Amino acid sequence: MLISLFEEAKSLSSDSVLNGKIMAALFFEPSTRTRFSFEAAMLRLGGSVISNADMLKTSSATKKETLYDTGKVISQMADVIVMRHPEAGSVAELAKGSSVPVINAGDGANEHPTQALMDLFTIWMEKGTLDGLKIGLVGDLKYGRVPHSQFDLLKHFDSEIVLISPESLKMPEGILEGRDCVEVDNLSEVIGDLDVIAMSRVQKERFDDESEYERVAGSYVLNGALMEMAKSDAIVIHPLPRVDEIALEVDSDPRAKYFDQVAYGVSLRKALLKSVLL
Ligand code: CP
Repeated sequence: MLISLFEEAKSLSSDSVLNGKIMAALFFEPSTRTRFSFEAAMLRLGGSVISNADMLKTSSATKKETLYDTGKVISQMADVIVMRHPEAGSVAELAKGSSVPVINAGDGANEHPTQALMDLFTIWMEKGTLDGLKIGLVGDLKYGRVPHSQFDLLKHFDSEIVLISPESLKMPEGILEGRDCVEVDNLSEVIGDLDVIAMSRVQKERFDDESEYERVAGSYVLNGALMEMAKSDAIVIHPLPRVDEIALEVDSDPRAKYFDQVAYGVSLRKALLKSVLL
């Protein structure tokens, strides 16, 4: 199922198969990549977009309209809804009212499934497989919705996952679900064994206590010295935006794939939109 989606994403041209279809992009939380990526994917397939990048301030959410009602309403105007919201579970709540497919573009600290799909698509394109690899998830594994979704999707493949985080930002037990993983806090100890270095940002916006954020911010900085310790054929991915967890000097390293992921993301989302709309 996942591999057939990736094969479709790899081969899909930009013909107008979604002509006449409308995608509504409802963003209650800021985004650069995800919203534009979905919109570009829809437009490249001949579809149309209705979009609000600032739902919390400019939609009827300000008048206490419920997510359920919003889903009821928007699904009578659009064929698919793409939604981001700062609260975990919010996308599922809107989907209860919707009569059309709703795609989660990130709900709080919970999940960001299409980012994880494009991360796995990137690995598959760059390494040729998702099996037999050693994949390090690095950074804020507690609040980071991307590592949560990556971890969940990777259970479909036979690769070893190494969880690398400060003690206070470990992957929650509810997501681990008893899966046996190596958990360490020192990236330099394991980087030489990794085929994929999946970096992530410490999620400042999810911390109640700013001093706790300051304590763990900057825990990992992937720089040229660390990259010298990494395998010659390792790849580095990151959902972006970055703060300071990848030094600029790494950008020119051919193993750095985080900007290549932008194009992979549009391809993956084209395939995803096609799969839910046709
Ligand atoms: N990767 C990602 O979700 O980026 P944005 O927050 O810019 O959409």
